[in-house]
Amino acid sequence: MFEQKRKWWKEGVVYQIYPRSFQDTSGNGVGDLKGITNRLDYIKSLEVDIIWLCPVYDSPNDDNGYDIRDYKNIMDEFGTMSDFDELLAGMKSRDLRLVMDLVANHTSDEHLWFQESRKSRDNKYRNYYHWWPAEKGTPPKRWSYFDVDANAWKYDEQTDSYYLHYFSIKQPDLKWENPKVREEIYDIIRFWFDKGVDGFRMDVIPFISKDTTYPELPEKYNGNFVSYYSEGPRLHEFLNEMNQQVLSKYDIMTVGEAPGITLDKALDFVDEDREELNMFFHFDLMSLDRDGHEVFWMQKEKWKLTEFKKIHSDWDAVFAKKGWGSIFLSNHDFPRSVSRWANDSIEHWHNSATMLHTFLLTMRGTPYFYFGDEIGMTNAGFEHIEDYKDINTINRYELLKQNNISLKDFIENEKEAARDNARTPMQWDETKNAGFTNSKSWIKVNSNYRKGINVASQEKDENSVLNYYKKMVQIRKTNLGLVYGAYQLLLDDNEYVYAYTRVLNSEKYLILLSFSELETTVEINEISFKNASLLISNDQAEKTKLDKVFTLKPYQALVYELA
Ligand code: NOJ
Repeated sequence: MFEQKRKWWKEGVVYQIYPRSFQDTSGNGVGDLKGITNRLDYIKSLEVDIIWLCPVYDSPNDDNGYDIRDYKNIMDEFGTMSDFDELLAGMKSRDLRLVMDLVANHTSDEHLWFQESRKSRDNKYRNYYHWWPAEKGTPPKRWSYFDVDANAWKYDEQTDSYYLHYFSIKQPDLKWENPKVREEIYDIIRFWFDKGVDGFRMDVIPFISKDTTYPELPEKYNGNFVSYYSEGPRLHEFLNEMNQQVLSKYDIMTVGEAPGITLDKALDFVDEDREELNMFFHFDLMSLDRDGHEVFWMQKEKWKLTEFKKIHSDWDAVFAKKGWGSIFLSNHDFPRSVSRWANDSIEHWHNSATMLHTFLLTMRGTPYFYFGDEIGMTNAGFEHIEDYKDINTINRYELLKQNNISLKDFIENEKEAARDNARTPMQWDETKNAGFTNSKSWIKVNSNYRKGINVASQEKDENSVLNYYKKMVQIRKTNLGLVYGAYQLLLDDNEYVYAYTRVLNSEKYLILLSFSELETTVEINEISFKNASLLISNDQAEKTKLDKVFTLKPYQALVYELA
């Protein structure tokens, strides 16, 4: 019996593409849509079902496409609308679905709406954005992610007013409280659905509703602006309306990016009966190694495996009967998963990357893979500030300079934490620039493409990270218990091994994952191993163990089917 209703977006595996870094065909050093189309056979060979494409819309690229100038056009650097149509057709013919990125909390300041809005206080687009007239004094503090001064209000001389921008000054926040704005957004969504797009990943969706009296940050938030931003008064009204007016009319999926959302609020977004979203990305794991509210700073101590387990176990429990989770270890905003969650040293890299693949593909919830992780791409770890291209790193660096804070410490942090770690080009082969471009790449290519971290050499090697990945996806696909089965944590206080079972009716699995660079022995007493068989291991495994005692090699992963 399934506790959950079966759906394609629960059973599918998602592959996220950062188009700027995937494949250049035009020779401008930037990835493009044709590049993705040319690589569709490769993507299909990964046995994934759904592609999530980061923004490809017309944009001045202050934040690499997350600042949209025209929602119904394609960015010149990436190609044309006919390139897009060709890509979509190529996907459909291979039975791949396409999820686009909906960035609707804010637009670019170069969007026509904002260009008009800033012209005069009585412009017909004025009320599309949040304005604070200067005669009222300085507006109550709002924190900004990417502003050099971390100030989310920017003074605009033309109308002697401040506008609100939670991200960069070129990303003014839209005013969803205005019904016309919501109509515009729904119209954009319909435009892409009518083309045949299969869903949206919704950028910072919990931030869309604001208290338009703009009060001081209420004390209960204790300085935590992200939490405040994610609890706007009309948030659920807007999500429900969007669902009723557009989403529910199509067979599509939605996944919200959900900073600030805690376990107790989870079902408000994804309980099917509430008709809002299908899934979201929570930020508990992404904050695990960060310094409190300082989302861009690494904490000094290493994170603990018991905390990692607890986060996943708690979130699994929330969605056990209702709603549905998403499982991810990386994306374009965070470092590479193998460098962050395991060990990218030459000695441990293979087992680390494949162990993490095993984790993603044996948890309940839809797995999201970030491009390049399938071949175990690692952090770029740039040593020089000039190599960083991300507005986040660049603007925080400006702030440091103003405050005379040590550049050395900053670079040490960015080597581990920067978003650019995960934005270096896809490593296709051993030719110049890893086969990404034949001209100068927009961001440096990671030089380890010559050391086996590239698609071409891994395709040839039976034991490669890539080939393990493909086998593991197959295993998930052919064992529905790994998709829908109940999850039960074992060895909860062990700091070296993550062990759990997945059970669906008579299907039962035991998963053992070592997060340690040392050989580790564990004893599992809760389970009967009579007739257990090993489904997969990323290292040489001894014959199936039936004696409850397992010795795992460093970063070893083992999946057993229990009878
Ligand atoms: C979240 C996106 O993932 C990130 O890349 C972007 O900078 C911000 N939202 C602002 O759109």
